[in-house]
Amino acid sequence: MRWVFRGRHFLSLSDYTADEILYILQTAEGLKRRWMVGETLTILSGKTLAMVFEKPSLRTRMSFEMAMYQLGGRAMYIGPQEIGLGKREAIKDVATVLARMVDGVMVRTFAHEILVEMACHSRVPIINGLSDLHHPCQVLGDLLTIQEKKGRLPELKITYLGDGNNVCHSWLAAAAILGLQLTICSPVKYLPHPDIWQWAQERGAQSGATIVHEVDPFVAARASDVLYTDVWTSMGKENEMEERINHFKTFQVNDSLLRQAKDDVIVLHCMPAHRGQEITDEVMDGPHSAVIDEAENRLHAQKALLALILN
Ligand code: CP
Repeated sequence: MRWVFRGRHFLSLSDYTADEILYILQTAEGLKRRWMVGETLTILSGKTLAMVFEKPSLRTRMSFEMAMYQLGGRAMYIGPQEIGLGKREAIKDVATVLARMVDGVMVRTFAHEILVEMACHSRVPIINGLSDLHHPCQVLGDLLTIQEKKGRLPELKITYLGDGNNVCHSWLAAAAILGLQLTICSPVKYLPHPDIWQWAQERGAQSGATIVHEVDPFVAARASDVLYTDVWTSMGKENEMEERINHFKTFQVNDSLLRQAKDDVIVLHCMPAHRGQEITDEVMDGPHSAVIDEAENRLHAQKALLALILN
């Protein structure tokens, strides 16, 4: 292997090169194949992961916990009431103490700066399990799913419809690094962060990516290979829900939008989904939907990440 993964933090996809991301995906495919034939693995035997959650989770918690278990290691959940990052205790103190006890720390938090500060003070890898700026583990699972369903990543029209949120930012990073064709379709009030957009344009110019914004969902969806959506109201913004529903209602992924896309389009959603808002039941449960495979692939993608950075 030409790259060193051991001991590295995973805060954003932009911390990794295209070759490194593709190697994580290749490792995930191998680990998934071994899991499917029931092979018992001991790659992370004796290793431990602390999982710090300041927000709720189903997929992230379960996939990290099962990933460690299936690799022969152990994960421990620390809930929102237990640490009080930066409130009960300084972020620096939490990071340095945890690093004396475990081999890696996964953190789901609010401000991305909390992760950056933890990484500054931690001698073990800090993994971003979602921050207000990025959700890189989600997009690793998404990339794995697209690769499985379409056999490739380049030369596909990938369309993200909805809020310019943390998932959208991680998609911008993935497209810019890997040289993908990505259309972001969001109302002008809910564009991605301008610094991340600018960075993606500059990085994408080097990789051959095409990253564009389109305000009309029906234009954006046209000839898409992948339609991706996410909740209109992310965690922490619940008080904006009514206003957001008004702005986003024409961005719903429904049967008529799906008809604009290619016949073999796949639909992805990072979940949890608000059925009847950003996606209809018909699409979520329909033949184009790959959302459950996508959720499962969080497990395999993160297994690869953990096997590479904790070992
Ligand atoms: N997609 C995702 O991160 O799901 P959870 O919020 O359930 O972890």
